[in-house]
Amino acid sequence: MNRESIISLLGGTWTAYSELIRDSLRSDIPLLEKVNSDLLSNGGKQIRPMLSLLVSSALGQPGEESAVFAAATQLIHNATLFHDDVADCSSLRRGKPTLSAVIGPSAAVLVGDFWLSRAVRIVVSRPHQSEAIELFSKTLSDLAEGEMLQLQMASDASTAEKDYLRIIYCKTASLFETACRLAACSVDATQELTDAAGRYGAAVGMAFQIRDDIFDYQQGEIGKPVGLDLTEQKITLPLLGAMKNLPQSGQERIREQVRQIPDHPENCEAIRSFVLENGGVEYAGGRLGEFIAEAESALAAFPESGFRDALAALARYNAVRTK
Ligand code: IPE
Ligand code: IPE
Ligand code: MG
Ligand code: MG
Repeated sequence: MNRESIISLLGGTWTAYSELIRDSLRSDIPLLEKVNSDLLSNGGKQIRPMLSLLVSSALGQPGEESAVFAAATQLIHNATLFHDDVADCSSLRRGKPTLSAVIGPSAAVLVGDFWLSRAVRIVVSRPHQSEAIELFSKTLSDLAEGEMLQLQMASDASTAEKDYLRIIYCKTASLFETACRLAACSVDATQELTDAAGRYGAAVGMAFQIRDDIFDYQQGEIGKPVGLDLTEQKITLPLLGAMKNLPQSGQERIREQVRQIPDHPENCEAIRSFVLENGGVEYAGGRLGEFIAEAESALAAFPESGFRDALAALARYNAVRTK
């Protein structure tokens, strides 16, 4: 199942979502209109709104509110990327210079704030406004806490697997979970199905970020830099996996190399080779598979349909995706 077939399965709900995104960003400031239109013309994979609209279609009849929640999710996702590229000093996103590289980090943060505020604006006055505000605000604080925890851990190279899992839940899986829960809410699904949708979303989000962290150790055309995580002293799952079989002293030696990266950037290449030669990518791939299985098992509560099959295919896509 490819992207086009999912969009055609969604039909009019996808069109309504796309129009909402465009309309919600209108401004009478020409610079902002120009920046927004450039950003929308290279809009990324749009996985989160796809999951959201598939969940509402699988559990009921998606209406305007379903499109609104999908659009708000994608606006928030993009805003966090504009901010993330400032935080990570990254120069490439979706195969092009990042917003921060084009208009400068301060303006990029402001554009991110604008997209966030428009996400709030479209959610206000909807029938499930209070659920949406509660869940989106939880996710926004998860995002900020996740990025702060990651910064804290990077400075002392102390990340353990449980810390890593908390970081990726906060910075990525929380938004996937919220998107799927609100999609269920928008069609008045039962509590049991809403919880199952949340479990599915959280597990897909975990798998999605593990895949992204594996990319960072591989050479490929993913439209953003590779190797950046280590440069930023982020200890992610492939490195944790490769360290597993080392005695305590060996693990401490690698962590010391990570701590010294700012003064010894050549350590990055040595650590990367260590990860590739010691099964780090395979270990992360195994954990990724467990989250995919968890996502698929959450879907067992959904009624059978083409939408449910597409959700299962999207969960599995994380095992094979190449960007
Ligand atoms: C990038 O998300 C940030 C992560 C959570 C890994 P996507 O891979 O969904 O980025 P786009 O929107 O398709 O560019
Ligand atoms: C995900 O982390 C960032 C957010 C969810 C904001 P990364 O820093 O790994 O994302 P990329 O690799 O820059 O897309
Ligand atoms: Mg980043
Ligand atoms: Mg990344």
